[in-house]
Amino acid sequence: MQRNQEDDSLMRMVREASTEKDTIAFAEELAKLVKPGTVLALDGDLGAGKTRFAQAFAAAIGVQGIVNSPTYTIIKEYEGAKLPFYHMDIYRLSLEEADELGLDEYFYGEGVTLIEWASLIEPILPSERLHIHLETTGSESRKITCQPIGREYELWCRQLQVQAVKEEGPTA
Ligand SMILES: Nc1ncnc2c1ncn2[C@@H]1O[C@H](COP(=O)(O)OP(=O)(O)O)[C@@H](O)[C@H]1O
Ligand SMILES: [Mg+2]
Repeated sequence: MQRNQEDDSLMRMVREASTEKDTIAFAEELAKLVKPGTVLALDGDLGAGKTRFAQAFAAAIGVQGIVNSPTYTIIKEYEGAKLPFYHMDIYRLSLEEADELGLDEYFYGEGVTLIEWASLIEPILPSERLHIHLETTGSESRKITCQPIGREYELWCRQLQVQAVKEEGPTA
């Protein structure tokens, strides 16, 4: 974990996913922490696994059926067993268009919001959110970087980091 020396806040947490299963496992871990108003801001190149991550996450919060890429529909709403799931892909929108959609209704709503290509609308994202960056490092390997913004998401990252260390065992 990397810390900002000035205020000791947690800056980012990195997880290596060597297979698709690892990405899914990470989405499942994260799903245990979410609550109404959670905002997950995903980024990463085409094919990095943003939608795959969203599908695993949706399944983990009890969304039944198929979660497709919302590239053309922009926003899709699902009922999860645990809470509603708002899946967005804002790649085709300008910042102005996204602003006009009134996304705050989702961000501060009853469900959890996951936005693909979130950094494109950075200025209108809520002040607290978890950034998740997926980077393709091989055919199935991905580097997953989480950047928490806000105290609560910092705590999540710490928890997720502890979890990862437990799974991997102590390092020499
Ligand atoms: N480690 C991994 N994590 C996520 N997806 C993976 C991984 N390895 C292979 N894949 C595959 O990569 C593709 C990712 O596509 P997708 O999730 O649609 O990407 P994006 O939404 O970022 O454009 C899927 O076909 C998925 O099966
Ligand atoms: Mg996608």
